[in-house]
Amino acid sequence: MADGSRMFALTGQVAVVTGAGRGIGRGIAAALADAGADIVAVGRHPAGALADHVERAGRRCHSLVFDLADPAQVEEVIPRAAAAAGRVDILVNNAGATTRGPALDVTPEEWQRVLQVNLHAVFRLCQAAAREMLPRRRGKIINIASLMSFEGGILVSPYTASKGAVGQLTKALANEWAPLGINVNAIAPGYIATDLTRPLQEDTTRNPAILARIPAGRWGRPEDLGGAAVFLASAASDYIHGHLLAVDGGWLGR
Ligand SMILES: NC(=O)c1ccc[n+]([C@@H]2O[C@H](COP(=O)([O-])OP(=O)(O)OC[C@H]3O[C@@H](n4cnc5c(N)ncnc54)[C@H](OP(=O)(O)O)[C@@H]3O)[C@@H](O)[C@H]2O)c1
Repeated sequence: MADGSRMFALTGQVAVVTGAGRGIGRGIAAALADAGADIVAVGRHPAGALADHVERAGRRCHSLVFDLADPAQVEEVIPRAAAAAGRVDILVNNAGATTRGPALDVTPEEWQRVLQVNLHAVFRLCQAAAREMLPRRRGKIINIASLMSFEGGILVSPYTASKGAVGQLTKALANEWAPLGINVNAIAPGYIATDLTRPLQEDTTRNPAILARIPAGRWGRPEDLGGAAVFLASAASDYIHGHLLAVDGGWLGR
């Protein structure tokens, strides 16, 4: 039986977190660092306050600036992360984008941008990370899915399409890579108060409707995702493969 105090430890491991500079990614990266991991923070902007948190936790933070909407830049992420930090033990595919509006108004450019960041980049980063992890026959990949991996949502058709696919991709990759020692799982956040959901938080009709359905009675906070991320990154979840873990204040059970 594993020692409970060590089961969740990430001491000495390297975690690549996309979109780590703010919102959910920042909450997750901070929790992984608190559990002992060095962080490679990937985003269009430098990691900023996250880097201070990671260093206060006594860990190293490498900040890599890449635009995941550009397929060519996606290819550079894992090689650059491995070069900076020595290896990649954990990948959290968190960076995400959306567009809001009727499906009839979605332009090809909007569709392409959302699918590129939320799905195509995720697949290529999973592939590259798995290749890097393979020689050690150990690794943890955590994709950030959504309630929209289960539900249709309202006025977010490209986002819903991408997150539904992320859920299925997580299961498909787990089927192939579990025998190789790589765990692929997903976290499905509920309604979390971040820049991404600011239009909903400020919508005087949608905000009370959302709150009324959340059994926990409040919007989630980025730090609410930290525990699930540490769990799926740690030895505590070694026999968990292809699971979508909802962290939603009870929304899906309603
Ligand atoms: N908030 C929610 O209620 C909720 C619910 C379910 C799922 N999610 C998912 O959780 C993840 C994080 O969402 P969030 O709410 O924290 O969003 P957010 O506050 O808008 O932050 C988005 C993050 O993604 C990064 N990002 C966006 N486009 C990028 C690009 N082209 N290249 C590189 N990085 C990019 C941003 O970094 P830079 O600005 O530095 O580029 C930022 O760190 C997303 O996958 C989202 O779909 C969120």
